[in-house]
Amino acid sequence: MIEIFPEYEGDIDELEKTISVDPGITAQVLRIANSAYFGFSGRISTVSKAILLLGPKEVWNIALGVALQQQFSKISFSPSFNLEQFWLHSFFTGIIEDYMARGIGDASEPFHDAMSFGLLHDIGRLIMASYYMDEYEQIQSLIKREGLSAIEAESRVGLLHTEVGKWLVRKWQLPKDLEKAVAEHHFVPSGSGPLSFKGVFTGIANLVSKTALGREDSDSLEEELEAIRNQYPWTKKILNNTIDNVDMLLGKAEDVLKMISGG
Ligand SMILES: [Fe+2]
Repeated sequence: MIEIFPEYEGDIDELEKTISVDPGITAQVLRIANSAYFGFSGRISTVSKAILLLGPKEVWNIALGVALQQQFSKISFSPSFNLEQFWLHSFFTGIIEDYMARGIGDASEPFHDAMSFGLLHDIGRLIMASYYMDEYEQIQSLIKREGLSAIEAESRVGLLHTEVGKWLVRKWQLPKDLEKAVAEHHFVPSGSGPLSFKGVFTGIANLVSKTALGREDSDSLEEELEAIRNQYPWTKKILNNTIDNVDMLLGKAEDVLKMISGG
């Protein structure tokens, strides 16, 4: 059904080869690497130089974003699905998560691939809007008609985007911690049972992104953010700092997206 960019296993030569065989992806990776976001304007002319200056994980994340965007640009979607908004939310969440992960410093678990967690957290929604259109429309009308949250409406229809996403991440053989985070990202802060560290992180980045984009009732989002500060006190400083810089981060997400879509 969907071919996906292979996982980066730490082999830099392999990574360079994977990107370089696709001229479209190569061009986009170089465009983004040279963007103001990374501050190397015009100095990165080859994939190997990008890997050297940006680091392999970062280059892999960029290539993954480009590849995903290209794959899904040709598929048709449910009428009420807004692909542009979807990518903005996904890239924005990735950039927020990356920013937050840099803020945790050395004391915590390292989280170098945070960008791809945010980027992929809602991938189940993309699949539902393209391969389960009827269910997707039913869910949207439940949200509108009965004021349910997305997860409540999805549970009623019996198709959760967190579970679809988890299935896809497993099928693509992406890392186990990503599979967990995709499954858990809506259960922060209210979820039952212990959530993984990266699941909590992804859930928080998702909420910050939604709040800043004004997608849902902002009062209840604010309440959720407050509950997170209380439930996970270690997030307080990072969360406040991220919220203070959210406009700058949104600008970066819009820039990267514009570049990927060739704008
Ligand atoms: Fe989600």
